[in-house]
Amino acid sequence: MKVHVADHPLIAHKLTVLRDEKTDSPTFRHLVEELVTLLSYEATREVKVEPKQIKTPVSPMTGVAMSKPTPVVVPILRAGLGMLEGMVKLMPNSEIGFLGMVRDEVTLQASTYANRLPKDLKGRQCFILDPMLATGGTLIAAIQYLLDLGATDIIAICIISSPEGIKAVGDAFPNTNVHLVTGAVDEKLNEHGYIVPGLGDAGDRLYGVV
Ligand code: URA
Repeated sequence: MKVHVADHPLIAHKLTVLRDEKTDSPTFRHLVEELVTLLSYEATREVKVEPKQIKTPVSPMTGVAMSKPTPVVVPILRAGLGMLEGMVKLMPNSEIGFLGMVRDEVTLQASTYANRLPKDLKGRQCFILDPMLATGGTLIAAIQYLLDLGATDIIAICIISSPEGIKAVGDAFPNTNVHLVTGAVDEKLNEHGYIVPGLGDAGDRLYGVV
């Protein structure tokens, strides 16, 4: 798996405010959106485009337009939903699919409780949005779901990743075209499967505890 860790002072600054336990939910949501837009810039570097003829007020020229079918963006509910706006701002003509996945807090196993995706993902670039790559269980299940629908080109965007999660995802998909773009690789996971230092529970910090 190709891993790109964004190395940018603005991303590091915004991440620090995001991590701070004193940051409130409205600010947290706003920062997640901004961070995802910045990470999406890297993640979409190989988005498919094709030549397009246009006329400027001065002369004809050949530009580019995004190829059809357009990419599919898949936020993993619940926390991935907070990343959607920041991504579609950059790619407003992408299609959006949804995967609802929940992690059992004891076994740390991920299971799917909802899905709404195109039936056939052959030839579609797929972007998975999940803020925290912790054990890797949720992301592995989500990637497998998309591979089973025919996807061959998958990019996961995670705001913070653990070394354990990166290894688990890489080991699970050694020969597939799966990439990860992340804002930071933290130190480790704790015994509860939380990233250290991380930022706590991303879903709770985005939406409150329900
Ligand atoms: N999910 C989160 O929201 N935070 C973590 O640290 C790990 C998983």
